[in-house]
Amino acid sequence: MENFDIKDSSLAEGGRRRIDWAEREMPVLRLIRERFTKERPLKGIRMSACLHVTTETANLAQTLHAGGADLVITASNPLSTQDDVAAALVNIYEIPTFAIKGENNVTYYKHITAALDHNPHVTMDDGADLVSTLHKERRDLLPNVMGGTEETTTGVIRLRAMAADGALKFPVIAVNDAQTKHFFDNRYGTGQSTIDGIVRATNVLLAGKIFVIAGYGWCGRGLAMRARGMGANVVVTEIDPLPALEAVMDGFRVLEMSEAAKIGDIFITLTGDLKVIEQLACHTAAN
Ligand SMILES: NC(=O)c1ccc[n+]([C@@H]2O[C@H](COP(=O)([O-])OP(=O)(O)OC[C@H]3O[C@@H](n4cnc5c(N)ncnc54)[C@H](O)[C@@H]3O)[C@@H](O)[C@H]2O)c1
Repeated sequence: MENFDIKDSSLAEGGRRRIDWAEREMPVLRLIRERFTKERPLKGIRMSACLHVTTETANLAQTLHAGGADLVITASNPLSTQDDVAAALVNIYEIPTFAIKGENNVTYYKHITAALDHNPHVTMDDGADLVSTLHKERRDLLPNVMGGTEETTTGVIRLRAMAADGALKFPVIAVNDAQTKHFFDNRYGTGQSTIDGIVRATNVLLAGKIFVIAGYGWCGRGLAMRARGMGANVVVTEIDPLPALEAVMDGFRVLEMSEAAKIGDIFITLTGDLKVIEQLACHTAAN
């Protein structure tokens, strides 16, 4: 593979315009970039990042680049990749990027392998696929890795399990544990973007719909709040009694999935778990 894999280089100029637009909303990152340009604290550091390839990440990438980092990026989620941003990263900002919206599982892991071929000193991960692939398939790289960062709840859970088994071979900063991450990104960011995704994909009117939310954690609370604001009739399912009670106190109906499955119009899972609806729906059918 060459040192990038993207959908279409001709999208770069449109991507640049959207990256600039996003930058207006990122004043803190802009200040850090100004400091990094002068101080170059990351000079000589090779970084492999597995993140959502979006306008915001492109601004982060430019900032790390300005700090002297030798950075490559691969997508952490095939469905969130913005192809115009990937094109701008490669063609305008000269940051090797491996990301194509809708890429299949084989390409996804081929891209992760390509990012690991960069022989990183530092990893940046969102979901722990990069770090787990490194530990499983590229252990030869481990001696050079100083540490990493992990963005999301699920990735932190996976890495804590590896650490408990003595399997994690370098320190990782749990970005999700920062108050400024889960209080705001998980709750308000995911709350808004989930609604946005559903409405764009389906063009459905949310008012009056029975909107079933599985998991009343940070993301679940944010989505429930926003869905109610759109007029949806929100039902919550939870396996932990404490957040279940919190949902009741916040004014939502809390049901078991076997009950919610009978009445819901729209189902969203925000649990980090697999088959949250299917297993319970099968259970209901068996009953
Ligand atoms: N795409 C993004 O931008 C983005 C951003 C933040 C978080 N996330 C992901 O969203 C997911 C949720 O994150 P969070 O921070 O809200 O986690 P959280 O731990 O705060 O909340 C998860 C909740 O789900 C509940 N739960 C677990 N299994 C369940 C089941 N089978 N049925 C019902 N409830 C169940 C848990 O009890 C918990 O209350 C994670 O996978 C996280 O990595 C994605």
